[in-house]
Amino acid sequence: MQNRRKFIKLSAFGIPMLSSFGSLSRDFTTARGQVKPIVISTWDFGIAANQAAWKVLSTGGRALDAVEQGVHVPEADPKNQSVGYGGLPDRDGHVTLDACIMDELGNCGSVAGLEHIMHPISVARLVMEKTPHVMLVGDGALQFALENDFKKENLLTKESEKAWKEWLKTAKYEPVMNIENKLYDKAAPQKLPGNQYNHDTIGMLAIDAKGNLSGACTTSGMAYKLHGRVGDSPIIGAGLYVDNEIGGATSTGVGEEVIRNVGSFLVVELMRQGYSPEDACKEAVMRIIKKKPDIAKKIQVGFLALNKKGEYGAYAIQKGFSYAVCTSQKNDLLIDGKSYY
Ligand code: GLY
Repeated sequence: MQNRRKFIKLSAFGIPMLSSFGSLSRDFTTARGQVKPIVISTWDFGIAANQAAWKVLSTGGRALDAVEQGVHVPEADPKNQSVGYGGLPDRDGHVTLDACIMDELGNCGSVAGLEHIMHPISVARLVMEKTPHVMLVGDGALQFALENDFKKENLLTKESEKAWKEWLKTAKYEPVMNIENKLYDKAAPQKLPGNQYNHDTIGMLAIDAKGNLSGACTTSGMAYKLHGRVGDSPIIGAGLYVDNEIGGATSTGVGEEVIRNVGSFLVVELMRQGYSPEDACKEAVMRIIKKKPDIAKKIQVGFLALNKKGEYGAYAIQKGFSYAVCTSQKNDLLIDGKSYY
């Protein structure tokens, strides 16, 4: 089943204008892929993140710098309870962050279970650029960050601590779908009951003026997870994969199902075989649904992909998965991606 699409176009002054489109969607689909540079990212908070990335891309900067700068925005936003500062904690009250980054040369860096550092994506980049390793976890990742002059901070905001304490009253671990949209609703930012929790990640993919691709993915992971749980977001091939010859893909939602299917790598490999970005995302979603139909009914997983030509697409298990697109022509678009249900 395909859900209706909507888009928000930002005016020159950044004021969103909401429209629905039926026939317009044809033109828009045709226009996809003609424009570079381009940056796309998951969820509504992708709009602000894309704008930060665009500052880099529009001045001839490298896609790698763009995605790092872009995802810094939700990482530093205390209102965003699924990424970085202000993220909902694990079962024991620790905010633990997962992030990874990939460049056009196939280099990658990753951190998992990192505490006290506002910008895990920048630590991941440093792992990529300054160490012989790909991934650092937990205390080792923190030690590495502190040795490289990252500041140690308390990432647990009062709002997230309050939500956690409320959750402790029942301590039931049940993911709620598409919580990001509600959490980020400016009209009602903190109205979720404390026993609900989210799993929504920012994944960002960009092509710069030279035609090079990079990607970044960062999250505080599943709220109230077991201490030590790692999701898909820091795992190269699961939460993110970039191949500069083909394209890139990233994921959001319940990470365990993405890891089981090596989701982002699968999407890129399908694009290598000739699938469009949207069809590749759909096939990756279908793998999850076919293997675990009963679980899939109750969870959200979404994939977002960008190919080397600048064509993009997305597909999710459940409706409600949005993504943002920024190019010189389209300014910013928020698209309600297609879904199975
Ligand atoms: N996709 C984020 C997570 O599962 O942690």
